[in-house]
Amino acid sequence: TTAILIWTGFGYLLGSIPFGILITRAMGLGDIRAIGSGNIGATNVLRTGSKAAALATLLLDGGKGAAAVLLARTIAGEQAALAAGIAAFLGHCFPVWLGFRGGKGVATFLGLMLALAWPAGLLACATWAVTAALFRFSSLAALVAAGLSPPWAWATTGRGDLTLAAAALALVVFWRHRGNIARLRAGTEPRIGQRKDS
Ligand code: G3P
Repeated sequence: TTAILIWTGFGYLLGSIPFGILITRAMGLGDIRAIGSGNIGATNVLRTGSKAAALATLLLDGGKGAAAVLLARTIAGEQAALAAGIAAFLGHCFPVWLGFRGGKGVATFLGLMLALAWPAGLLACATWAVTAALFRFSSLAALVAAGLSPPWAWATTGRGDLTLAAAALALVVFWRHRGNIARLRAGTEPRIGQRKDS
């Protein structure tokens, strides 16, 4: 249990690194929290007009979720890996450094799923990509991908703990997207890459 606690703390700290803020600042793109939706994720970074910054944010936010899982698994085993992954996700969404106002967790969620159980992670990524290709809403793609990740986790692993974790994280993803959900319903959600926002 001490090991689990340590890996939870490590995952949280790693997850709470706000790459979207750091990258946009380093590239001179301004404060991402004052642009578009104000979110620190790759979707909003794309609204600065820099595809490179958006891609870097996506890979690093996803990578920190995967890294937390893989490091914990290598050193402390599967239970620690699950704990570190969940903690990284929570660190991204609720970072202590930003007064607990972090991101929406989508990239980090996909990264940790890929590392925990890659077939389930791949299915979740594919779900995101197909929904995004069909409707051009990043938020809708995230909601569908998060919502389907528990069934994907169950179908590919049969693991109760992983399925439950996926369901819990999906609930947080939905909660973090409540503004997007309202905009989707009102028909005011911007499409992917569209700079104008409401
Ligand atoms: O990953 C977040 C995405 O689903 C929505 O981002 O900036 O459109 O609120 P945004």
